[in-house]
Amino acid sequence: TPDVVVAVDGPAAAGKTTTCVALADRFRLGYLESGRTYRVIAFEALRRGVPTGDRENLVALCDELLHESRDQDLLTSERYQAADLRSPSVNVAVSDVARVDELRKRVTQLVRLWAQRQVRCIIEGRDIGTVVFPSASIKFYLTASPEVRALRRLEQERRGSYEDVLKDVIRRDRADMSRTVSPLVPADDAITIDTTELTLNEVLGQMSSVCERSV
Ligand code: C5P
Repeated sequence: TPDVVVAVDGPAAAGKTTTCVALADRFRLGYLESGRTYRVIAFEALRRGVPTGDRENLVALCDELLHESRDQDLLTSERYQAADLRSPSVNVAVSDVARVDELRKRVTQLVRLWAQRQVRCIIEGRDIGTVVFPSASIKFYLTASPEVRALRRLEQERRGSYEDVLKDVIRRDRADMSRTVSPLVPADDAITIDTTELTLNEVLGQMSSVCERSV
């Protein structure tokens, strides 16, 4: 395992990616966005016509993708465009994908394998501090009100109406928090940061001061 694992979990659009990229740069950490893998599986399911409610075939699809990509590549493949992976249809399908225990086990395994090749890393997701790396050196749980997260997402992606983006944020919160396998919850030892009333720099300041002590 790496010397340092920083786990960053939290609901959709809480600022995980933006802060992780900045911290990775500042503290020279390998960075992994674990949600991307769930999105790749969802995107391929839609493209290949695998119904996302069909667990067995989703798992078969995942194994096929792993085979085609020789495992590691599925995490970091450059073949996929951000716009494709973040489309509204993938946003819906990914919640189905993330519910399937057998898929989660495979993604967890991939993330752990990736981390083994890092000396220090920062990983964002929903279950990094709780399931994937329960012994992570530092655990952050980033959150903000749904309304603020929807506004930030809208500013960032400039797609759709505020009402639609807010609905999607609330729907994904519900799906991520209420699923039976690896639901989204803060780890007991996570540092929770509610960013609703904070600027990006304030959030980064808080996270950096924690990292300075142990990274
Ligand atoms: O982080 P992002 O919003 O791209 O993640 C997309 C979806 O993938 C989440 O809504 C969640 O259902 C799932 N996910 C997960 N566990 C992770 C990362 C993402 O279940 N570690």
